Amino acid sequence: MANAQTPKKHLKTYPGASVDVTWNKPLCIHVGECGRAEGELFTAGHDPWCTPDVSSAEDVVDVVLRCPTGALSYTRKDGAPGETAPAHNRVTVSNHGPLYLTGDLAIGGAPSEDEAPGVRFRAALCRCGLSKNKPFCDNAHEEGGFRDRGAVGKRGELGEPGTGTLTVSRAENGPLLLSGPFSIVASSGRVAFRGQKAALCRCGSSKNKPFCDGAHRSAGFVADGD
Ligand code: SF4
Ligand code: FES
Repeated sequence: MANAQTPKKHLKTYPGASVDVTWNKPLCIHVGECGRAEGELFTAGHDPWCTPDVSSAEDVVDVVLRCPTGALSYTRKDGAPGETAPAHNRVTVSNHGPLYLTGDLAIGGAPSEDEAPGVRFRAALCRCGLSKNKPFCDNAHEEGGFRDRGAVGKRGELGEPGTGTLTVSRAENGPLLLSGPFSIVASSGRVAFRGQKAALCRCGSSKNKPFCDGAHRSAGFVADGD
């Protein structure tokens, strides 16, 4: 089956009978959750890379939702509902890498929903300060040698997680500002913080990562691309 390039230059859509899969290239940091999935839905080096009709629509959706950056999204053509947000918003601090967000997300600076439907629910945000695609991760942490294992020292109130939209905005040349119910999960998998507001470091210099400690000022952080 031939793949079809949509008119939006960063998007590639792979059509299937009951579900289409769309890939947003600038958001993909090649984590590989799609390629490692069982079966031949995604096959590296094969044209097309993705063939939705080799799997059931449910299996296609299952694999697409593993994509932690929102680069992959899907459109059901069989009347089944599209992607919805999980009940609770989570920010996972990765080992030497980005912040992975899942939930009901409103990310300032994100492309419009029809340009990047996945990041309404899944996103990888830069926390090393080096991405050229801020607020999203572009893997610049690898070349830049960013080191932080993703431990979280501060502990918030660990009550029941709330529900609602998590809004993420950016302070000028400063942190990510989170507003709305969310949990922060350390790279170990421990839920370390629950709250409604936080300023998270995106310059890479804080001594209290993932939180901002004001070090962006002395570091002279300039969020180019904002
Ligand atoms: S799972 Fe998403 S981010 Fe990872 S390689 Fe696939 S499309 Fe790219
Ligand atoms: S943004 Fe890194 S310390 Fe404030």
